[in-house]
Amino acid sequence: MAFFTHQRRSFSSSALRNVVIKQVTIIGGGQMGTGIAQVAASTGHTVTLVDTNDDILKKAVKRIEGSLKRVVKKKYADKPEAGEEYIQKVLQNVSTSTDAGSAAQVSDLVLESIVENLKIKQDLFCQLDEAAPAHTLFASNTSFLPISDIASATNRLDRFGGLHFFNPVPMMKLVEVIGTPTTSQETFDSLLNFSKALGKTPVCCKDTPGFIVNRLLLPYIKDSVLLHERGHGSKEDIDIAMKLGLGHPMGPFELCDYVGLDIMKSMVDRWLAMEPKPPFAESENLNKLVAEGKLGIKTGEGFYKK
Ligand code: 3HC
Repeated sequence: MAFFTHQRRSFSSSALRNVVIKQVTIIGGGQMGTGIAQVAASTGHTVTLVDTNDDILKKAVKRIEGSLKRVVKKKYADKPEAGEEYIQKVLQNVSTSTDAGSAAQVSDLVLESIVENLKIKQDLFCQLDEAAPAHTLFASNTSFLPISDIASATNRLDRFGGLHFFNPVPMMKLVEVIGTPTTSQETFDSLLNFSKALGKTPVCCKDTPGFIVNRLLLPYIKDSVLLHERGHGSKEDIDIAMKLGLGHPMGPFELCDYVGLDIMKSMVDRWLAMEPKPPFAESENLNKLVAEGKLGIKTGEGFYKK
């Protein structure tokens, strides 16, 4: 548990024994996985992005390219050719595969960002545990599932931690680095150093529900939804209030649509399952929208219709 007691120390004492992460496998070509792949490739890491079929992977690479174009539009505003060169250089660092096992065989880190289902994550890591070399670190980008539960499917409990990124990954500076009681100090330090190498600011988290950000975000989102359901404020007014009153870049309903209502609901459900008396009630409105497939920006409609 040492990493929880000296979070701000220099890393030099254990740096020699740390895994220096250069080769990264990212499992999951969705919004988060592609964002992480983009940032890792942009910072000189060799990335293999893995998903179940080539169609998804083609779309994922297109998404990375689109996001890189947005980056270079600002960064290379006066030098479009240098911008195009930069994009190609970054893309050269990204390869794709439908074979997670082969990718893991040559990786320093395997990071999953797949569906929020404990059993599926456990099965994935159980298989990869066989394939990956001993030095390879495993990490999950789960929003809410306990890292210890995911890691329990493997024999590398000391080399397993959490790396929780925020959407949109290329823009959001934070990474939550999560250590379980069995994560070794060297693994934790390697994950911290990797987050810094990505140009992010890491914070140290315990393996508690929602870590730091989602633990605080969820009650806020739920209260916003319930405030609206009780008729105490329109969605628009609540969003405006939180943006102009507290300087949030998005209001709670805009943020729900942005992150995805299915993701929000999965976190709420998980919390309800864990706590017999959660600090909030279930939202009929959120459940109804998810049941109707209205998941936010990704389906064209959530709380708002685009
Ligand atoms: N890739 C690259 N560049 C991007 C980008 C992306 N995905 N998104 C935004 N940008 C850059 C571009 O330069 C863009 O300019 P452009 O539109 O001309 O290309 C510029 O930022 C401005 O973007 P926007 O005009 O879309 O709007 P904003 O200035 O409002 O910025 C935002 C967008 C950064 C998303 C901002 O609204 C924001 O910070 N929102 C809050 C996001 C947030 O809270 N995220 C955390 C969610 S919780 C989570 O992820 C945890 C999980 O477990 C649930």
